[in-house]
Amino acid sequence: MSFYKPDFYKPDFYKPMYQQLEAMGLDHWSQQLQQTLPARMTSESHGKMTAWQKALHALPELTPSIIELKDKVEVGRAEDLDDVSCEQFAEQLQAFHPWRKGPYSLFGVDIDTEWRSDWKWDRLLPHIQSLAGRKILDIGCGNGYHGWRMLGEDADFVLGIDPTLISVMQYQVMQRYLGARNHYVLPLGIEDIPANLACFDSVFSMGVLYHRRSPLDHLLELKGCLRSGGELVLETLIVEDDEGTVFMPEGRYAKMRNVWFLPSVAAMTLWLRRCGFKSINCVDINRTSIEEQRQTEWMTYESLVDYLDPEDHTKTIEGYPAPLRAIFIATRP
Ligand SMILES: C[S@@+](CC[C@H](N)C(=O)[O-])C[C@H]1O[C@@H](n2cnc3c(N)ncnc32)[C@H](O)[C@@H]1O
Repeated sequence: MSFYKPDFYKPDFYKPMYQQLEAMGLDHWSQQLQQTLPARMTSESHGKMTAWQKALHALPELTPSIIELKDKVEVGRAEDLDDVSCEQFAEQLQAFHPWRKGPYSLFGVDIDTEWRSDWKWDRLLPHIQSLAGRKILDIGCGNGYHGWRMLGEDADFVLGIDPTLISVMQYQVMQRYLGARNHYVLPLGIEDIPANLACFDSVFSMGVLYHRRSPLDHLLELKGCLRSGGELVLETLIVEDDEGTVFMPEGRYAKMRNVWFLPSVAAMTLWLRRCGFKSINCVDINRTSIEEQRQTEWMTYESLVDYLDPEDHTKTIEGYPAPLRAIFIATRP
């Protein structure tokens, strides 16, 4: 069995993360991760893993002259590319297609991702507690785009988890040049997180709840990760309607097979209340536009416009209400 070694460039890649977890009193989880993480990224874990490993290792040695994480994610400028042209570098980055979350600017290459994840960030940032100095868990973090933005807000430590391996590889690409000792994306699902960690200052769950068959258990798991007084930032698909309404599609929703429950704002608020959260607020409601989620040269597969009724964009292709998203903030008492 061959192991992918994310520490290829830096022998102690995960060491600061383990130290951080231990400083947070999570010695047991740290020990467990040290034993289980390597097996998560073997060449056997995904048919493309070997190609991704090679592509990662083939990326040029570069030192970014600029790192901007606050207003956008920009790392390096085109002038920093020494022996490789912008076009060649862009081609190397295309080995990690499809790039869904972003956008990123990497040494002058604009990775125009499927999602304008920065728009979601702009919608939520004014409503959450300051992230400065906080320890944050981002569940279903994709490639870690929002994690980089959290560092831009002076977060102390950001741990993202996502079971999709290409997302973890894209994080590795950025990490290759950022070398952050306080932002990690691990190939884990929420089911891999030990119960009642009770230590994170903020927990984010964005775009995950509707993929869970048991959304109330998801909320309880999120609460268990938070310290007392910690803040939950939850973004999910919702439906317009009253307190009693929770919509469950018969089969696919917007061509997605794994969509289970879409609550109304009132139903979601009730769920959070019943799960013991306090100070619950819905701070944003947004109809996902075909400008925010679209096909680009960095994500050439189908996108939102293909999931909607071509005659009526207020409906999905299956005839259900088109994607409407809400952001909720709540506190663990
Ligand atoms: C719609 S994306 C949202 C990504 C990011 N949070 C955002 O808001 O842009 C949902 C993510 O949840 C991840 N996911 C799916 N099942 C998960 C699970 N059981 N635990 C954690 N993440 C999961 C998917 O791999 C995907 O990257």
